[in-house]
Amino acid sequence: MKTEHILYFKNSNEMKEINSNTIDLIVTSPPYPMIEMWDEIFISANHKIKEYIKNGKGFKAFQLMHEELNNTWRECFRVLNEGGLICINIGDATRKVGNSFQLYPNHVKITSFFQNYDCLILPIILWRKPTNSPTKFMGSGMLPTNAYVTLEHEYILIFRKGKKNRRFKPKSEKRYNSAYFWEERNKWFSDEWSDIIGKSQSLENYSDLRERSAAFPLEIPYRMINMFSIYGDYVLDPFWGTGTTTLAAMISARNSYGYEIDPEFSKVFQNNVKKIKPLTDSTNKERIATHLNFLKSYIKNKQVKYTSVHYNFPVITAQEKDILFYSIKDIKKLDNIYNLEHEKFSYKKKYDKEVHSSLIK
Ligand SMILES: C[S@@+](CC[C@H](N)C(=O)[O-])C[C@H]1O[C@@H](n2cnc3c(N)ncnc32)[C@H](O)[C@@H]1O
Repeated sequence: MKTEHILYFKNSNEMKEINSNTIDLIVTSPPYPMIEMWDEIFISANHKIKEYIKNGKGFKAFQLMHEELNNTWRECFRVLNEGGLICINIGDATRKVGNSFQLYPNHVKITSFFQNYDCLILPIILWRKPTNSPTKFMGSGMLPTNAYVTLEHEYILIFRKGKKNRRFKPKSEKRYNSAYFWEERNKWFSDEWSDIIGKSQSLENYSDLRERSAAFPLEIPYRMINMFSIYGDYVLDPFWGTGTTTLAAMISARNSYGYEIDPEFSKVFQNNVKKIKPLTDSTNKERIATHLNFLKSYIKNKQVKYTSVHYNFPVITAQEKDILFYSIKDIKKLDNIYNLEHEKFSYKKKYDKEVHSSLIK
């Protein structure tokens, strides 16, 4: 199987290169309105924002920042297929503007934008940024009533274009090959992710640029892509940053597009893409090893009826039987286009035999 990954270093408020109704899934994280590190980007798009902040008019600045994002959301809606999903990672902001400290609820603003389009608003996921530092409390110590609650979670907002689910041919091979494990379903489709462990060890170079880009952990787009798309689909990130979504799409054998206005961040991507082959294999290995580990405790009490067609290990449901993982065989780059060739990920026979014979009844 082949996939292509195309990057455009330009503003995503006009994605002329992409035809309407061609994208299956959008996974992204925009600059967060009213978080200071992103002021410059919003001000360069609309100078009034600076005046409003200077004059203490926080909510007016907030409104204009969202108007900038809305230009990209409109384009996202245009390029998305009917039934396709858009997953937006966003945090709210707290900030003192003028004399008032208050919350700027970014997730509410984005949700109300999509409410006015022909979309279904789906249940959201909350996740927490990994942190080693103790919680920082805001306000007046141990005395009521003027302290503030700290913001520690982020949202993944999920919208479906149109009013209907995506349709597939009965027994679609690509869809069945793209299955996830039963126990992954139970974890991934929960509304709170507290197990996101931050960026992978192998993605640590250029950490200053990564910080400046506010990159999300690879696990976030990886899960979204595996939950909401199938092999060969087209995934778009209109706020590409360091290209974490593209890396996740490469590992998951989906095609991808990315738009980014600051080409500086591509250095981080170019460095990470060098490690994409081993990263893909270790991701696959880890998912399979976690599955086999899970089976050990599950099988103590229950019978497992099904066996994976491609890997010969037990699976819990019939829907998982055709689950298939891909390795990256070859990667070619031409300007800002990466062409990948994928092949079936093969799992060591030795491991199959041991585990399979001891577990299946
Ligand atoms: C929160 S960061 C995304 C980080 C990304 N998810 C990652 O893992 O690296 C938002 C990115 O959007 C870019 N950006 C902001 N406005 C944009 C626009 N209108 N078009 C394209 N890129 C934009 C910023 O330069 C920044 O890199």
